[in-house]
Formats: sequence, C-alpha cells, structure tokens
Amino acid sequence: MTTLLFGKNGQVGTELQRTLLPHGPVVAKGSESVDLAQRNAVSECLEAVRPDVIVNAAAYTAVDKAESEEELARAINADAVRAMADYAARNDALLIHYSTDYVFDGDKDGAYLPDDSPNPQSAYGRTKLEGEEAILGSGCNHLVFRTSWVYSANGHNFIKTMLRLAAERDELKVVADQVGAPTSAELIADVTSIALAGYRKGHLPIGTYHLTANGATSWHGLACRAIDRAIDNGRKLKLRGADVQAIGTDDFPTPAARPSNSRMDSSSLEQALSLELPDWTIHVDRMIDQITKANAS
Ligand SMILES: NC(=O)c1ccc[n+]([C@@H]2O[C@H](COP(=O)([O-])OP(=O)(O)OC[C@H]3O[C@@H](n4cnc5c(N)ncnc54)[C@H](OP(=O)(O)O)[C@@H]3O)[C@@H](O)[C@H]2O)c1
Repeated sequence: MTTLLFGKNGQVGTELQRTLLPHGPVVAKGSESVDLAQRNAVSECLEAVRPDVIVNAAAYTAVDKAESEEELARAINADAVRAMADYAARNDALLIHYSTDYVFDGDKDGAYLPDDSPNPQSAYGRTKLEGEEAILGSGCNHLVFRTSWVYSANGHNFIKTMLRLAAERDELKVVADQVGAPTSAELIADVTSIALAGYRKGHLPIGTYHLTANGATSWHGLACRAIDRAIDNGRKLKLRGADVQAIGTDDFPTPAARPSNSRMDSSSLEQALSLELPDWTIHVDRMIDQITKANAS
C-alpha cells in the first residue's frame, strides 16, 4: 500500500512522516516539489505516484492574510483538495484530510459535534469548509479530521511566540475570551496512523471526525502554562505566567474573525478507535520540555 503525503514540511506533516511508515511506503511532498496552488499539479503528481492512500496535511494556514488572499487560499484549501478527492473517487483510494474549528462560528454553548452546522466567519474558514464539501461531493472514501490550535516543537506557533515575547517584553497581554483545545501535531499524527489501521480493519467508518485534545483553555491560559513550565525547566524569561494580562478579543483586533468557542467533541473518534485522548496539558508540557530542556537559556 503506497501513501502519498502532501504538506510534509508543516507541523502535522513533519510528524506524519514518522507515524505513517508502519503502513508501507510513503511518498512525501512539500511545496518545493508540488505547488498546490498550480492548476493540474495535484493531478499530475497523483497520476505519477498512483497512491492507495492520500494524506493531505498541506493547507493555506495564514488565517489573517487569507482575508486579502482568499482566491489563493481557495486554490490550496478547496481546489487542490477537490482534485485529490476526484482521484480517490475514481481509483477507490482513501483520502485523509484535516480541517478546522474555523468552519464554526463559535456561538454554540457546548463543544461542537461533527454534525453541527458549519458557519465560517473568515476567508480561511470558508475555504476550508469548501475543501470539506468537495470531499463529500466527490463520494470518495475519506477521513476528515477537524482539529484546533495546532502546535509542535518544529513549527511556528502561538506557544513559541509566547516564549519569545516573555523573554523580550516587560508586559504581555493575551486574549482570554476565546476557548479551545490546544492540540499537538504529534497527537494528530499518532491518531491518524491508528485511524488508518482502524479503517483498514473495518473498525472506523468513513466520515468527518473531531480530533482534538480533551479539556479546554483560553489563549491566556495556554500562554501562562507554557511560560511557567519553561521557567520551571530553567528558561530565563522576563515575565512569569502571573504577569501575563488577560484581555478581551475586542482589545486585540485582527483581520480575520476567530470563533470565541472552538471546543470540539472528539468522542465519536475515541469510541470508534477505543482511545482516550489526553488532556491538552499533557502534550503542551511535553512540547515545552522538548524545546526548553534541549536549550535551557
Ligand atoms: N495550525 C493550526 O492551528 C490549525 C488549526 C486547525 C486546523 N489546522 C489544519 O491542520 C492541517 C495541518 O496544519 P499545520 O498546522 O500542520 O499547518 P502548517 O504547519 O502551516 O503547514 C502547512 C503546510 O502546507 C504547505 N503548503 C502551503 N501552501 C502550499 C502550496 N501552495 N503548495 C504545497 N504545499 C503548501 C506548506 O508547505 P511548505 O512548508 O513546503 O511551504 C506547509 O508545510 C491543515 O489542514 C490546517 O488547516 C491547523
């Protein structure tokens, strides 16, 4: 069974390069060899590799920039995904794809279920939803995993930004009225591999699933935990968690609207695969330990 991975250099793609290996040969592509924004690039690559499984970890993820580049975001997040789905439908292949909490408006009181109605409030969210719709419309075998607040030791992300700012600044203000589950790329890639095995054994039906860590926090809560853990590990920072000021979304305007509630219920995936997804703190602490214990100053 040959797997074709798009987005090999991203946070999730980097981890997938390891966790997909037990399933057979993996052909991994980054933007340097296949530019998903180029018409026909995806189809040409698929016809050359002829994969049994396509894993798409590539996406246009610059949420604010997408407001002024919606067509480019659409080419990558929807048109390229449609080409993958069409190949999968024609060739009885499986398409594994990732989507986002941004397909929801954030107005629900509790955690979002996979079947809840999407209502994206941003260009990024709209284009990611169009990608999901292209997959459903193609009729291909698919596993779509919606996740949230992704971070990894390798990539650029909120946690690394907070540690840098806590080292440089005398004051730090972070939004406290948006809640969600920080989810590590490592966890997403581990569960993807388990899900692929579950699908092949017939235990996991095709469909859309939520794949996030359990529990929830705010961006402020995440910043405080990351900073305090880094200090405990010997990182010299100017600010402690207690110094980080909580602000509201209105105090930190951004081009793209963000859901105030990004909590997603992953229980359908947990039940199908007999998993207990860990609390968000577990992998955040692991990641902080990885990046701070290697270089404590
Ligand atoms: N990051 C989050 O907080 C978050 C939250 C919810 C859902 N998600 C979803 O989770 C998935 C993985 O996200 P991530 O955080 O791993 O993303 P990421 O680190 O931003 O990586 C995205 C990858 O997409 C590739 N890419 C972008 N434009 C491309 C193009 N024109 N052609 C080919 N490749 C292109 C980039 O390739 P190069 O590096 O080779 O340029 C990059 O490696 C995505 O579907 C994303 O929408 C992410």
